Amino acid sequence: MPYTVHKLNDYSEETMLKAVVQFRLALKIEWFEIEQKIINPDLTSAARQDELKKFRDRWLSRKSGQFSQINELWLKNAPADRKKSVGHLINQLKQNDLPQIEQLIEKRGFFVRQSSDAIRSINRIFDDEKGRKLQQETLATQSRMNSLLQTLESLGSEELQKIAIEEFYVDLSEALEAAAKSKDLAVERLDITLPGIRRPIGAEHPVIKTMNEIVGVFRNLGYSVEEGPEIETDYYNFEALNFPPNHPARDTQDTLFIAGQESKALRDRLLLRTHTSPVQIRTMQKMKPPVRVVCPGKVHRNDALDATHSPIFHQVEGLAVDTNITFCDLKGTLDHAMKALFGSSVKTRFYPSFFPFTEPSADVQISCIFCDGKGARDGSPCRNCKASGWIELLGCGMVDPNVYGFVDYDPARVSGFAFGMGVERIAILKYGVDDIQLFFQGDVRFLGQFG
Ligand code: PHE
Repeated sequence: MPYTVHKLNDYSEETMLKAVVQFRLALKIEWFEIEQKIINPDLTSAARQDELKKFRDRWLSRKSGQFSQINELWLKNAPADRKKSVGHLINQLKQNDLPQIEQLIEKRGFFVRQSSDAIRSINRIFDDEKGRKLQQETLATQSRMNSLLQTLESLGSEELQKIAIEEFYVDLSEALEAAAKSKDLAVERLDITLPGIRRPIGAEHPVIKTMNEIVGVFRNLGYSVEEGPEIETDYYNFEALNFPPNHPARDTQDTLFIAGQESKALRDRLLLRTHTSPVQIRTMQKMKPPVRVVCPGKVHRNDALDATHSPIFHQVEGLAVDTNITFCDLKGTLDHAMKALFGSSVKTRFYPSFFPFTEPSADVQISCIFCDGKGARDGSPCRNCKASGWIELLGCGMVDPNVYGFVDYDPARVSGFAFGMGVERIAILKYGVDDIQLFFQGDVRFLGQFG
């Protein structure tokens, strides 16, 4: 049976003292039990909150709390001549215990809000010797209070007097609280020696930077910029560029095909574009000559990774179609572009090559920028150009008349040239990068150098 305030049989000094002592002991023992409960990590935080609320209601509720019951049952029934001294005793009790218990409840708010994990880690304080001693002491106090409560009847008034004024609010979790606070403080502490949060300014990616530079050179020549999709149809990537079905030239492109396209006609099947040349077709479908465009973008090939190959890379395509465009224009344009990109002392050389969509076709080589075209540096053969003095850089040619057939241009009236260059390859040469993979690994130590 939990303690409740009950009526007094008589209002003798001794009965009053006993009642007060009993009240205080009951209050303290119960509080002690609550303290034990709320630091138990097996309880949920809601259950802890509930315990605390139940305690508050039971003792402090205005209407039926035990503190209010004292007035109801002790003071109101007191005979007139005892009212004053009873009132005095009750006031003492309230003034002393009420604020203390309210404060304790307030303080325990910290524990009831903690997660079980947090309580568990705070409870580790019990693990060491000091902690164990603390726990033993509090348990001893509790059992002392219990036996006092038990033997209350047999206690003499002197003893009662002593207990009535004794302060024995057990604060089991005082030490725990300190532990919790220091933990809290450690978390909240502001370490002014920590460096602030740096917000580094981003740098243009070297591939994008190079791409923009290439595009800029052609913009200055009056070219505009066109873009196309990275997922293309076979038609734009191959057929309209004069790669007939099953033509061996398709094999040189190491195409990555989109799965599940077999039910479609070949020309409609999707693939990852292997070059930016399909944008030539899309542009010519869109506009009539004169055309002068550059088409930067990402392309994909089923290439194994190594220092110079990546399955994803970038190209800048160029296309100029007008009346009377000759191979001379192509040579002059690309010679200018290479000088603009690598310096005015660079020479260009056009080497016969083959692309299905240009005729004639050429590979463009520039004089080696590492050995100034000499093929040797510091007395030893130049590794960059394999001692040849030339570096192969891009493909180009005069647009094959067959291609005009696919876009409704009249090959008898117009002519033009096209070229395509790998952006990474140019960036590698310009910035002396020795591994193409560095462009795709996202290592800020590498990328930061281009800021
Ligand atoms: N598209 C070709 C390739 O990726 C390059 C090229 C473009 C060649 C334009 C000629 C004209 O290999």
